[in-house]
Amino acid sequence: MSHDTAGPDGREMRLADEEEFFQIAGGIAASPSFGRTKQHIQHGRTSVYAHALAVAYYSCWLAEKLGVKVNKRELIRGAMLHDYFLYDWADGGDGHKWHGFTHAGKALENAKRDFILTPLEEDIIARHMFPLNLHPPGHRESALVCMADKVCSAYETAHRKSTPWRPYRLEEEMEAWLKRQDEEPTN
Ligand SMILES: [Fe+2]
Ligand SMILES: [Fe+2]
Repeated sequence: MSHDTAGPDGREMRLADEEEFFQIAGGIAASPSFGRTKQHIQHGRTSVYAHALAVAYYSCWLAEKLGVKVNKRELIRGAMLHDYFLYDWADGGDGHKWHGFTHAGKALENAKRDFILTPLEEDIIARHMFPLNLHPPGHRESALVCMADKVCSAYETAHRKSTPWRPYRLEEEMEAWLKRQDEEPTN
């Protein structure tokens, strides 16, 4: 096992069904509107796109490790869209001064405009900033994303120069996966 694929517990990070993850997350990642998140920085050198992929992947990994029964599709889609606020929050603009408090609402508004969401996916997005936003997660999936987001945000802030942890190397894997889907003959 190479060191840079290790998770926080020192073990290789792999989901039980990696293909399922790419299929569900890829459904969001392939959307041109979601592609805009590649242009916005979340923390350090990590784009919102890479952050969303990492949070979605780590949420699934946590569910498996903790043995929490979840709806994988809604967990992954909600996590992918949890920061779909579509602006540069660190640009110092006055409108983003209260980003920490307001962006979950903005992400939900954008996500409802661009995707068809289930109530659980809406809850995941709306509640991910607990306890900064006072409403606690209403479902297991929302609690997992809320936790995974905090771990990933701390990781990004602490690793501003390079992010070798596997959840942060998924962007390339996703690009390759999406390319394969385009190339595969449909019949
Ligand atoms: Fe957020
Ligand atoms: Fe986030």
